[in-house]
Amino acid sequence: MATGDIYRALHARSLKDPEGFWAEQAEAIDWSRRWDTVLDSSNPPFYRWFAGGELNACHNALDRHVEGGRAEQTALIYDSPVTGTKTRFTYRALRDRVAAIAGMIAAEGVGKGDRVIIYMPMIPEAVMAMLACARLGAVHSVVFGGFAAKELASRIDDCNPKLVLTASCGIEPNRIVHYKPLLDQAIEMAVHKVPRVILLQRPQGEATMVAGRDLDWVETVKDATPHGCVPVQATDPLYILYTSGTTGYPKGVVRDTGGYCVALHWSMKNLYGVKPGEVYWCASDVGWVVGHSYIVYGPLIYGATTILYEGKPVGTPDAGAFWRVISEHKAMALFTAPTAFRAIKREDPDGKLLKQYDLSGFRTLFLAGERGDPPTVEWAQKLLGVRVVDHWWQTETGWAICGNFEGLDPMPVKLGSTSVPSPGWQLEVMDDQGRPMKPGEVGALAAKLPLPPGTFPTLWNAAERYRQGYMTEFPGYYKTGDAGFIDEDGYVSVMTRVDDVINVAGHRLSTGQIEEVLGSHNDVAECAVIGVADELKGQVPLGLLVLKAGVNKPNEEIVGDVVRMVRDRIGPVAFFKSALVVQRLPKTRSGKILRGTMQKMADNQPWTMPATIEDPVVLDEIKGGLKSAGYAKL
Ligand code: COA
Ligand code: AMP
Repeated sequence: MATGDIYRALHARSLKDPEGFWAEQAEAIDWSRRWDTVLDSSNPPFYRWFAGGELNACHNALDRHVEGGRAEQTALIYDSPVTGTKTRFTYRALRDRVAAIAGMIAAEGVGKGDRVIIYMPMIPEAVMAMLACARLGAVHSVVFGGFAAKELASRIDDCNPKLVLTASCGIEPNRIVHYKPLLDQAIEMAVHKVPRVILLQRPQGEATMVAGRDLDWVETVKDATPHGCVPVQATDPLYILYTSGTTGYPKGVVRDTGGYCVALHWSMKNLYGVKPGEVYWCASDVGWVVGHSYIVYGPLIYGATTILYEGKPVGTPDAGAFWRVISEHKAMALFTAPTAFRAIKREDPDGKLLKQYDLSGFRTLFLAGERGDPPTVEWAQKLLGVRVVDHWWQTETGWAICGNFEGLDPMPVKLGSTSVPSPGWQLEVMDDQGRPMKPGEVGALAAKLPLPPGTFPTLWNAAERYRQGYMTEFPGYYKTGDAGFIDEDGYVSVMTRVDDVINVAGHRLSTGQIEEVLGSHNDVAECAVIGVADELKGQVPLGLLVLKAGVNKPNEEIVGDVVRMVRDRIGPVAFFKSALVVQRLPKTRSGKILRGTMQKMADNQPWTMPATIEDPVVLDEIKGGLKSAGYAKL
């Protein structure tokens, strides 16, 4: 047999007989009621996996392992260089802590289907809070700590939580992030009134409580009665995770319970090549989809040990931090974003710090979140001497769309490619007219419906947006929003987004959302935001501002204002640090701003004068402006 034959046969079967294939994989999960239908296709594009089945995700992640012989195995390792803490929780200890927290939140009247917002840093209680919600059948929505109050408020208003679970602060290397003032402000701004907040005080920055609304976590959980697992429908939501769309209004990606558990379990073994009981490390944040799937649910559902790392790849304390964690906890794999490796490479280009650590048990580096640029992938390959697997992901998909399957018969890695489709994924590259393109040609990446289990069945409160935004442009297909090509061997390369989403240090941002903030400045008549190439972060946002006639303030003052406004309204994670004041923006005759052309100019990539341009002189002005600001270098 040739390399890849096992994968190819499995992938072919997953397309030919999806129900048979996924029903087999579902045997690895505990069900309290078996499903009636593997795939309910009665209402496309709203497909439902394992309809009629009942299960509980927390039972699958914890209780069944406690009962099945893993009670004393470490489930979670908390490694926090920013607080100088390392703690281990066995499956039994984690289950007990989660059952108590579930009791605490049930006492607040939270039950099946109720929403709970979790606004917490990378501490064990964040993982426990997620699992406690799952235990009750409540729907969690984790909000990343780097967002501003307004973002949190919009999520509160979209999902109307009965409860917010939070901690007093997060710890960034250069500062303490006080969560509570942001939360108080968000609750104040939101129309939906949050009746209850339960807050964990951290000694690094204690918070002030609001009498009558806020409860102290430690005090409250002390008296809680442990709660058991509540079975839910396989099609019931486990969580909502908000992500950037093309407008300022975030999209609530819904994750179902049954299909997700099945897909994650399959991927731990076959994609990541993990054996139950091994230590697997995903160095993301619980606020992102990757953190949901591979810090929390995937490793635990599979019976592995997961690491929760509260630190950075560099500066906590140095660029050897990742090697220390891998060697100290004997991690067999690391999953992170290429930007983290670029940060390490910049500080320690020869990898000298690696020599201090024993990485003999380390087998694979997985990269995702942004394009695995070949220089970074090659550097990591040479340094670590292991396979470096780039795999393609989206919040919407819950797990990898493409990857290299380390637990099957791993195929050769091709630099710049995310390898081959996961089971159930049938990808096509489409031209502007929705016609499939030939191998090697770049176009819009689309996936034939139905999507496999674990992918999003809908958007929260926005079924029509789901249909219109993803399922309409190419009938019968999911529009991924990414562009790329598929080569003769079926390897998929993802090159760029086709919409106005940009990717900053592995964080997904909407340029449209940043434009809304810039446009609200009193002196700004018009604006555009583009993502310009950045050596460390992949892309960073750059604003272009046209001022209202008669404004005579210094440009620096207005730029300073808009930088502050973006930080206050979207958050530090937007990393919006620069804007240029220009006379005019280049547009087509129909008024569309030529963002793509400006981005190519700024990155000094080849560009052509669009035939529909209103006034070509404007592009010369922009080019001049970009050049004098240090962009578009020749
Ligand atoms: N809470 C509050 N603020 C946060 C935050 C959090 N959880 N995470 C980041 N921020 C802040 C940072 O402090 C920084 O603020 P500053 O402008 O005041 O310095 C800003 O948001 C930008 O953060 P980031 O882009 O993360 O830059 P960084 O310099 O702190 O770190 C990297 C750079 C490369 C180390 C970091 O971006 C990284 O590890 N990225 C990987 C992302 C990832 O894992 N994505 C998931 C896909 S796999
Ligand atoms: P998010 O929803 O935050 O996970 O971001 C998803 C987006 O990140 C995708 O639509 C891609 O644009 C980008 N992305 C994720 N993984 C990869 C990858 N391996 N290669 C290229 N782009 C990626």
